[in-house]
Amino acid sequence: MKKRAFKLIVTAGPTREHLDPARFISNPSTGKMGFAIAEAAALKGWEVYLVAGPVSLSTPKGVKRIDVVSARDMLAAVRETLSSGGSQALISAAAIADWRPKKCSRQKLKKHQMGNVIELVRNPDVLRTVNSQVRRKILPPAKLIGFAAETQNIISEAQRKCREKGLEFIVANDISEEGSGFSSDTNRVSIVYKDGNVKDLSLMPKKDLAGIIVDEISSLFL
Ligand code: CTP
Repeated sequence: MKKRAFKLIVTAGPTREHLDPARFISNPSTGKMGFAIAEAAALKGWEVYLVAGPVSLSTPKGVKRIDVVSARDMLAAVRETLSSGGSQALISAAAIADWRPKKCSRQKLKKHQMGNVIELVRNPDVLRTVNSQVRRKILPPAKLIGFAAETQNIISEAQRKCREKGLEFIVANDISEEGSGFSSDTNRVSIVYKDGNVKDLSLMPKKDLAGIIVDEISSLFL
């Protein structure tokens, strides 16, 4: 029987949380980092699923793309893709909105209907949910990797997220630093491992960083 390729699921881009068909809450993520990781992994011959929020990037060659809009759609697509099992990992590079409007109207809301306050509710956390469902055997085993977008206390916050979300490692970046963060083609990050160790990397193109991250994921399975 042919051995199944190693499977990597990558989330990328922002999510949109609609208030009505014309309005949403979102963030400036462009998806560049996640798409670069998907491309680097596909070049290694891995089976790559890219769960993408609304972005204007073309799909890297050999990658299976699943387009989603909201955080809840993203979680559903990730769960569905993980559920077939195999030797697999999930890296969440997406900037997933933490809240959504409590109500989403099918019709465009008129100004007089809106008032000045939008009531929000918390979105599910994709990595936390997957970690908990893998532990409870609702989902098959998967190694989890995250990103931490910070503006202060970068390393301690990344260590906390790595611990609380059950991650193998987390890629921490200072989104307020010149040349790093959302729409940039470069990034300067630190890799924070689950044992608390930290590897600082220099400023480099997101495509080069993607290769390093893919090698780190690869080494989790040695
Ligand atoms: N993430 C997730 N589900 C969410 C929000 C974030 O899975 N609803 C993932 C991101 O894709 C990233 C990691 O969790 O890999 C950390 O995201 P980040 O926005 O840095 O942190 P939060 O967990 O949202 O925490 P905080 O807002 O307190 O910084």
